Amino acid sequence: MKKIYGVIGDPIRHSMSPDIHNDAFARNGIDACYLHFHVKANQLEEAVKGMKAIGVEGFNVTVPHKTAILPLLDEVDEMALAMGAVNTVKKVNGRYIGYNTDGAGFVTALHDKIGRELTSLKTIMIGAGGAARGIYYALSREGLAKIDICNRTIENAEHLIADCPYHNVSEALSIKEAELRLGKYDLIIQTTSIGMSPNVDSSPLKLDLLSEDAFVSDIIYNPLETKIMKTAREKGAAVQNGVDMFVCQAALAFQIWTGIFPDISKMRDIVLDKLG
Ligand code: ATR
Repeated sequence: MKKIYGVIGDPIRHSMSPDIHNDAFARNGIDACYLHFHVKANQLEEAVKGMKAIGVEGFNVTVPHKTAILPLLDEVDEMALAMGAVNTVKKVNGRYIGYNTDGAGFVTALHDKIGRELTSLKTIMIGAGGAARGIYYALSREGLAKIDICNRTIENAEHLIADCPYHNVSEALSIKEAELRLGKYDLIIQTTSIGMSPNVDSSPLKLDLLSEDAFVSDIIYNPLETKIMKTAREKGAAVQNGVDMFVCQAALAFQIWTGIFPDISKMRDIVLDKLG
């Protein structure tokens, strides 16, 4: 019998997940289909009950449900519990188990592209929201030398550092302090929505002191090159957009469901094709 997978969220119409997962199922000879499910915040509990009743094998969870879904699941793995957010659910013996592949997806994508040992990198992350939390926890678990966080509201960066269950030597900085110290960082990670379409002319940080040996990774993929990436590239730094993170979080979800790590270059082609 065909297995059913899907993604729940609001809005959900523009999600690229069905395209990449349906293609991966077909390529791997798995008889499954992956659908969009438009679920509003006040329908989440009913939707999860419905998934169970129908016997959906697994699903992704996106905005605004990543945190609200935790108490509705039968079990949540250690990393997702620490992050307080789930993006992937798998049915195991009739029980629904929650995982989070966002942070690990970022680490996998970074590792593939950067070509250096991650543990030696002095890193600064811009932003302290939900996306930043996943990335910070995953990088801290990898044991990076130092990951500082700068944020408009410095208290949010302090809370993120204090909450992390994995040890790290980190400082919370204001944006101004980060700009003044920028030259000493090897890796700059941009996790806010600043620079995302349609506000493509904004940048969260001035890069005057950026080292030309630095690597700048922005989790935004629309546009494919944000203002901060363009400035960094013009200064000679290496850059990465959010396409690889999106693809790798999906690949890790696919692996949780099927045990197979799919061909990520095919997934990337589909995403780039959709983004035009
Ligand atoms: P997500 O879950 O997608 O990461 P979020 O939780 O709303 O989104 O987090 C947004 C992040 O972007 C935060 O770090 C936020 O800074 P504050 O903690 O000060 O709110 C940052 N951010 C969003 N809009 C911003 C803006 N216009 N200027 C500076 N920082 C901004």
